[in-house]
Amino acid sequence: MALAGLFLLLFLPVHLIINLMLLSNDPEPFNRAAHFMASFPLVKIFEIILILALLVHAAWGVYIQICNWLARPTAYASGNKAPTVFFSKFMIWTGLSVLIFLVLHFFNFYFIRLGLVPGDPKDFYSVAYTLFSVPAYNYIYLFCFALLGLHLYHAFYSAFQTLGLNHRIWSPVVNIAALIYSIVIPLGFAFISVAIWQFR
Ligand code: HEM
Repeated sequence: MALAGLFLLLFLPVHLIINLMLLSNDPEPFNRAAHFMASFPLVKIFEIILILALLVHAAWGVYIQICNWLARPTAYASGNKAPTVFFSKFMIWTGLSVLIFLVLHFFNFYFIRLGLVPGDPKDFYSVAYTLFSVPAYNYIYLFCFALLGLHLYHAFYSAFQTLGLNHRIWSPVVNIAALIYSIVIPLGFAFISVAIWQFR
């Protein structure tokens, strides 16, 4: 689950950098990059791994959570107040929210490419601009980006912990990196949607 999660953590900055091309007035760079991502054979293999990683990560997360609940049906009399435990308690809910967001997101974009919903797969630039001109979509996306940030923060440092990469000196550095990553990535996505919505 940690390896699948780390793979997803690598995907998001790439996705963000490509999406930042949406801020250009010229649709060409973004559409060309999206087309490259959709057609280059190596990227297509990466895409299959990505979707598999997503499914494994989500299914395993739900399985572990159910096992946790079944193992301890009655709560502890006194709760653990450590900050790590605070965030980990909500992982199943923030994770399921991201999953629901992805279903919506796939209907908005990815399924167009697969021919499952109407739209022009060669012009994702216009698809994004049409989508983010609707205020309701912005509110939903922004809310989901915030939940994504919460999920990413715990996901980042706990993946290292799961892989046994705890270290007296490096763990605090990983923690700071997790904090920066979980703020910068969702803020970057939010910036794109708000910029299109408010300034275009
Ligand atoms: C401003 C925000 C975002 C925009 C404009 C956007 C745009 C897009 C577009 C245009 C595609 C279709 C690309 C293609 O099929 O060629 C896509 C696919 C995808 N997006 Fe996003 N996205 C955004 C945020 C996110 C976030 C936050 C996540 C993850 C939580 C995400 C996960 C994915 C995944 C997994 C795919 C399918 C894989 C792929 O096509 O490479 N996206 N997105």
